[in-house]
Amino acid sequence: MNLVLMGLPGAGKGTQAEQIVEKYGVPHISTGDMFRAAMKEGTELGLKAKSFMDKGELVPDEVTIGIVRERLSKEDCEQGFLLDGFPRTVPQAEALETLLEELNKKIDYVININVDKSILMERLTGRRICKDCGSTYHLVFNPPAKEGVCDRCCGELYQRADDNAETVQNRLDVNIKQQEPLLTFYEAKGYLRTIDGQQDIEKVFADIEELLRVIR
Ligand code: AP5
Repeated sequence: MNLVLMGLPGAGKGTQAEQIVEKYGVPHISTGDMFRAAMKEGTELGLKAKSFMDKGELVPDEVTIGIVRERLSKEDCEQGFLLDGFPRTVPQAEALETLLEELNKKIDYVININVDKSILMERLTGRRICKDCGSTYHLVFNPPAKEGVCDRCCGELYQRADDNAETVQNRLDVNIKQQEPLLTFYEAKGYLRTIDGQQDIEKVFADIEELLRVIR
């Protein structure tokens, strides 16, 4: 099962990835998570990524492609992978095609979670994440049972540094610009499947399960 999850910031990629990984056991490869981990460790990659992420800009293609190349070559990706937030530009998509050819693999589906941009600001500024297990919540749409506390592991919930209104606006502008050519690229390859991301979280996942039934 070789999958790519696409969608604008806040479309629900991370939320759906949690459920896909739980059900199908594929490794979750999120470039955003990898950059945040590198930032936390204070590595050179983390420092570089931070200068772009803090402003809501994309990290340069050569850096991003490099970390994905390394990650996809690991043993746990042999039976499949779930890419989340990569590729985000056509050069990244082209590099992924080349890399998968080298590894003798092929994408099954590019799942585009489609959400109208008008609701993404509210989704992102209201998002809270567990410090310990990474589970995602929303103050209004998906609140934890106890305020500020993770339902799964009782960890403390926090707000991501780039989820403030100003940075979110720039992330949306930057990603909207890249999205159309990327959708055209994958449409032409025949990989693209679009899911309505404005339904309840459970319904979005049910649609993804339905799609994946074919390749299981
Ligand atoms: P990244 O971490 O990938 O962030 P993003 O793409 O901006 O996406 P998000 O994680 O913010 O949103 P999501 O779609 O996962 O939404 P979620 O499920 O959390 O990237 C961060 C940065 O890293 C980028 O800005 C860039 O600088 C850099 N980067 C990463 N990849 C890169 C690349 N390939 N190239 C260059 N740079 C790169 O949901 C959001 C909220 O909505 C949550 O609160 C959730 O509970 C709620 N929610 C989810 N689904 C629903 C629903 N159906 N109904 C109601 N609420 C919902």
